[in-house]
Amino acid sequence: MSGGDHLDFEIRPNPAPVSDADRAALLANPGFGRIFTDHMVTVRYADGKGWYEPRVEARAPIPMDPASAVLHYAQEIFEGLKAYTTPDGGVAMFRPDANANRFNQSAARMAMPALPVETFLQSLHEIIKIDRNWIPEDPEGSLYLRPFAYASEVFLGVRPATEYLYLVIASPVGPYFSGGVKPVSIWVTPDFTRAAPGGTGAAKCGGNYAAGLSAQAEASEHGCDQVVYLDAVERKYIDELGGMNVFLVLDDGSLITPPLTGTILPGITRDSVIKLAELAGRKVEERPISLQEWREGAASGRVREAFACGTAAVITPIGTIKSEDGDFAVADGDFAVADGGSGEVTMAIRKELVDIQRGRAEDPFGWVHRVL
Ligand SMILES: Cc1ncc(COP(=O)(O)O)c(C=O)c1O
Repeated sequence: MSGGDHLDFEIRPNPAPVSDADRAALLANPGFGRIFTDHMVTVRYADGKGWYEPRVEARAPIPMDPASAVLHYAQEIFEGLKAYTTPDGGVAMFRPDANANRFNQSAARMAMPALPVETFLQSLHEIIKIDRNWIPEDPEGSLYLRPFAYASEVFLGVRPATEYLYLVIASPVGPYFSGGVKPVSIWVTPDFTRAAPGGTGAAKCGGNYAAGLSAQAEASEHGCDQVVYLDAVERKYIDELGGMNVFLVLDDGSLITPPLTGTILPGITRDSVIKLAELAGRKVEERPISLQEWREGAASGRVREAFACGTAAVITPIGTIKSEDGDFAVADGDFAVADGGSGEVTMAIRKELVDIQRGRAEDPFGWVHRVL
């Protein structure tokens, strides 16, 4: 290791990478999270030693002792972001430093060691460089990057582990909406909550998602695409979807979104939407939004549009909301999106954000991080 946080990654190229022909066949229709590149990054950690043995190596199963702490007490965190080609043939990521910071906030909550931001960024650069030819050429496709870390110590005891493994794997993905952007339907779960004050809602830890699977299944049973959670205390206020944050667009053009009080994930897309909207002169309020306010606003015309946002789909219009107390469309009256279609403001914000990400529009905040 050289000075500071810089690690020198040892590069061990995969001796048997996927052939060009097979890779081309896989990239023709990659789907989401099904296929993976030839390499992975691994960095180890031990108390007293810090992060060590940074490597890029062939993607392969990781040997794991049955007493590895993560298998029992779920000390695990992850991130998700995309690398994509730019119009001039380069490769870029969107705000990876924000993912690095969130990774460390998740680590702090789960009593795990912080990973230097520089090491996080370096690890992404390394896998992108070595697996460059896995990035789909499709301008809507991308290479989904999954950095994660878990307690690898072999020990059955409820305390923070003393050894961890950090990895990055990469998965080429196609366009999220193959047939154009379509509004989703969401189910307000009456049975499950996602996170309580003081819990782990703001951390990106695997356990949050395991706990959400029953709620997502309930949403599917009710014919909905996604689940939306209400707050765990009063069961009145909108928190977020299973994997996306929520915004409403009001009739004066302003945006409202639930505040970051520790029960929802601080989405990087959420933050980007707020900053872009404010730059464009739109008012944005981060405040509690009750389901009742949404329902009544949809009926009166006060709420004109709704959308969900996150890395995977960027921005997804919300069309209909189903709940035990009845269903409603986002704009129930005789106005712009009466049939629960894709709202104008939603689609304009979506275009603005995607154009910045893809290098087709000016990047006012310096968010696009060039890799190659
Ligand atoms: C629970 C949850 N909320 C919100 C988001 C959106 O976050 P981001 O915009 O950083 O992808 C995600 C996805 O990462 C998520 O899993």
